[in-house]
Amino acid sequence: MRKIIKILVVIGIVTFVVIQFFQPEKNIGEITENHILKQEQLPEIVQQTIKNACLDCHSNNTRYPWYDRVAPVSWMVNKHITEGKDELNFSEWGEMDAYDKIGALEDIRQEVEQKTMPLKAYVAIHKEAKLTDEQRAALIAWIDKKGSELVKSSTEE
Ligand code: HEC
Repeated sequence: MRKIIKILVVIGIVTFVVIQFFQPEKNIGEITENHILKQEQLPEIVQQTIKNACLDCHSNNTRYPWYDRVAPVSWMVNKHITEGKDELNFSEWGEMDAYDKIGALEDIRQEVEQKTMPLKAYVAIHKEAKLTDEQRAALIAWIDKKGSELVKSSTEE
């Protein structure tokens, strides 16, 4: 019996070491002029909120703490990033037309209001990503302002 446990522990350790060689590509790209932080004059609190709570999964640049680099956690992190960027990529804000931006702002507003973003699993580990009522209100206020500007400019054309 003890021998079997020893063998299982060894297999477990070997597996853990071997999977470390299968790491997803890191999401670390260049920050271009199209990034939302370069495109928009955001109030300080909105800037911080997006930086702390959204950009890791919704931009081309993720900050990786050490545990995010360890498989199998790194696989889950990579999945969130891929799926998150598929829905919304703040690094490409400048490439979106007014229509897409209005749609994105509506989606963001909804996620923030319903507290479905940032993802719970992320907030559990990244305390600074837990949004306060003040942060949520500031983000929504900016969204409403920007949204109505975009609607106005696209109907004037
Ligand atoms: C840990 C990664 C992660 C973080 C952090 C994160 N998101 Fe997401 N987000 C995702 C993933 C994965 C999806 C796609 C799956 C889903 O909708 O749950 C998504 C989807 C979305 C969508 C599209 C929803 C839809 O279905 O229309 C919006 C909008 C969004 N996120 C906004 C935000 C905002 C705003 C923040 C910051 C306040 C944020 N997210 C933080 C991972 C993340």
